[in-house]
Amino acid sequence: MAIIISPSILGGSFSNMEKTILEINDSKAEYIHFDVMDGDFVPNLTFGPQFISNLRSYSNKVFDVHLMINRVERFIDNYIEAGSDIISFHIEIEEDIESLISRIKKNNIKCGIAIKPLTPWNKIQPYLNDIDQVIVMTVEPGFGGQLFLNDQINKIKNISEYIKSENLDVKIEIDGGINYETGKTCIEVGADILVAGSFLFKQADLVKATNSLFDALN
Ligand code: DX5
Ligand code: ZN
Repeated sequence: MAIIISPSILGGSFSNMEKTILEINDSKAEYIHFDVMDGDFVPNLTFGPQFISNLRSYSNKVFDVHLMINRVERFIDNYIEAGSDIISFHIEIEEDIESLISRIKKNNIKCGIAIKPLTPWNKIQPYLNDIDQVIVMTVEPGFGGQLFLNDQINKIKNISEYIKSENLDVKIEIDGGINYETGKTCIEVGADILVAGSFLFKQADLVKATNSLFDALN
């Protein structure tokens, strides 16, 4: 199974996101990662469902939507209708997790749970039978361009070993500080999908940068 690259458009220019999406279309990335932030769950504010729905018609890539928001139950239908292919929310929210999972899945959308660096991985264990991916945050959520947290490597390994031992069909997505070295390390301990923002967007040519990361890791 090829390693999937999911460029995080948080690294792109919001004033011309159509251009970024069209570039990603020409790359070997299978996913496009949308970081939704509400300024409450994380100290940053990005975009809402209309931003995603306006971009939906520009790409057939997998829209990998990462909700770093509270009150997911209030907004989940908007992100479903916006054209998300995968919706991941955080395990740290104070909401009915099972009900959110079923609302997402009954709309034939894949469901993920994201976990912050300080949250023990067994918090998501009860839900692993019902979800399609786990997003292991290897930075504190809220901003791109942060350094990869090496102390998350063991967490990735533990989750991967558990998924294998239980024979679960759950993918592990890593989000934060991914480059050639950290990406390789994460794959060695079981990662399937790598989100990359600043590493790709700081390079002159987004398509070349994405393809070079894909080729280096596959
Ligand atoms: C951080 C976001 C990440 C981030 C990745 O809260 O969830 O997706 O944009 O950006 P880099 O790759 O620059 O860490
Ligand atoms: Zn993200």
